[in-house]
Amino acid sequence: MLEVEALTKRFGDVHAVDEVALVVPRGQMLGVIGRSGAGKSTLLRMLNRLSDPSDGRIRFDGVDVTALMGAELRRWRARCAMIFQQFNLVGRLDVITNVLLGRLNGHGLLSSMTANFTAAERADAIRALDRLDMAQTALQRADTLSGGQQQRVAIARAMMQRPDILLADEPIASLDPRNATVVMEALQRINGEDGITVICNLHTLDTARAYCDRVIGMERGRIVFDGPPSQLDEPTVRRIYGVEAAEQLSESVTSTSLSAA
Ligand SMILES: Nc1ncnc2c1ncn2[C@@H]1O[C@H](COP(=O)(O)OP(=O)(O)O)[C@@H](O)[C@H]1O
Ligand SMILES: [Mg+2]
Repeated sequence: MLEVEALTKRFGDVHAVDEVALVVPRGQMLGVIGRSGAGKSTLLRMLNRLSDPSDGRIRFDGVDVTALMGAELRRWRARCAMIFQQFNLVGRLDVITNVLLGRLNGHGLLSSMTANFTAAERADAIRALDRLDMAQTALQRADTLSGGQQQRVAIARAMMQRPDILLADEPIASLDPRNATVVMEALQRINGEDGITVICNLHTLDTARAYCDRVIGMERGRIVFDGPPSQLDEPTVRRIYGVEAAEQLSESVTSTSLSAA
């Protein structure tokens, strides 16, 4: 169980994350929504300690994550793997090496890209790729893949860390709708089959509705909604996204009902 208490990050006068409190049970698929600048990325970065909080506390299974240092901190970062909008693969390396780098990450040995991997590690990497239907690309350079394929490789790399939590910062923001679906379904499968907690920043409400058990809405660093997506009513959506976006939303509702008619 992940517990966040009064978590705050200040950049000068800006409260990027402002006294956020959150309890995430193991195995939940949690969506974080909000406008650009609401604090979603800052929250995620604090959870895996890429960024240090100004105030507040993070606990995981009773351990104070905010106090970890050195090797313990590296271990924590490995336990919450992160994927990004821009995939962050090493383009000139082949796919399997990119996936194997996920294992190095856990050992804090990222300095060496020419490390020798064992046959067992390579077999693990192929299995991770195979689960994402990407094993056939193992020997291709990463920069020859489409965006959707690169994100699946990034997920395979994250899985090599054997994480408890997978943090995804707008993982489908650069993808076309078809690839977005493939990537969200992959995250959903990992969540369901492996019981890995997934915390996923999402720009769009439709995606959160379709894939998440629970949604948190952020506005100016604060949580303004926390519940199942079915409870997101129009005033709440308006608050989270602003009037303009809420109007677009009701347009999409109208066009859906028209096409259904
Ligand atoms: N490194 C930083 N330095 C200064 N301000 C930052 C930094 N990172 C984020 N911010 C500010 O914190 C707020 C929240 O940003 P962010 O977490 O990136 O929001 P989101 O991911 O929801 O778009 C914004 O006002 C942003 O400008
Ligand atoms: Mg962001």
